[in-house]
Amino acid sequence: MTKKLLAAAKTAQRRAYAPYSKFSVGAALLTKSGAIYTGCNVENASYGLTICAERVAITKAVSEGHRKFQAIAIVCPGTQPTPCGACRQFLAEFGDLIVIYADSRNLRLNQTYRLAELLPHAFEL
Ligand code: THU
Repeated sequence: MTKKLLAAAKTAQRRAYAPYSKFSVGAALLTKSGAIYTGCNVENASYGLTICAERVAITKAVSEGHRKFQAIAIVCPGTQPTPCGACRQFLAEFGDLIVIYADSRNLRLNQTYRLAELLPHAFEL
């Protein structure tokens, strides 16, 4: 499943709209029911409006009725495609999940974490 998720993330990365940073990110989110939702970063001329790949994937899944997730795979060029702080909080809203990340240039697995390790003490209301 890890390979399948990484491949889906890589396909999504090719669709990234990143004319400003030129840094393309792809994500693939696995629901508890086994469905996969992908996302890519979508930048904007008003830079702060940019949406990260992870948040695109999760909003797509939630808007299709999914709220339980097993894992998310993230790829970008380089060895550190861990989700940014905003995305960690956004993912934590829906509970803990496995975060898999790899360098998109070779899909070599870099590391696997649980989200709770990446964002201990997430904000909750
Ligand atoms: N980006 C993501 O898509 N996910 C992250 O977790 C970190 C950053 C995007 C946002 C922006 O389009 C580009 O990477 C450079 O910051």
